Amino acid sequence: MKVKVAREAHFNAAHRLHNPNWTDEKNSQVFGKCNNPNFHGHNYKLIVEVKGEVNPETGYVIDLGDLAKIIKTKIEDRFDHKNLNLDTEEFKNLNPTAENIVVVIYNILRVELDNKYTLNIKLYETERNLAEYGGE
Ligand code: NI
Repeated sequence: MKVKVAREAHFNAAHRLHNPNWTDEKNSQVFGKCNNPNFHGHNYKLIVEVKGEVNPETGYVIDLGDLAKIIKTKIEDRFDHKNLNLDTEEFKNLNPTAENIVVVIYNILRVELDNKYTLNIKLYETERNLAEYGGE
């Protein structure tokens, strides 16, 4: 009997989408406003989903307090109020699109969780745009 539980978290961060191998014109054409040289911010909403067996003793899949603590220390403390391009190692050489951010977050959290859990991450860059990654 597997159940999925989830924890929501938020962080605010600035970024610029840019491919250094392209001309300024092509970057502007492809990334539009997100290529603004002086960066811009997003209020990211993160949903961390963990699926696993319900422990018969606790009735929990995972203690959501423990999960919240991992998200806080490993993700929020790392990315909140940061310029992703300039302030983080992860995006020094990786374009900080929602797609790339969600994969980075998955990889950071995956090693923090027991392998018995299935992990799936959703990252909302805006209320209407999200990226999702489950390790495939
Ligand atoms: Ni953007």
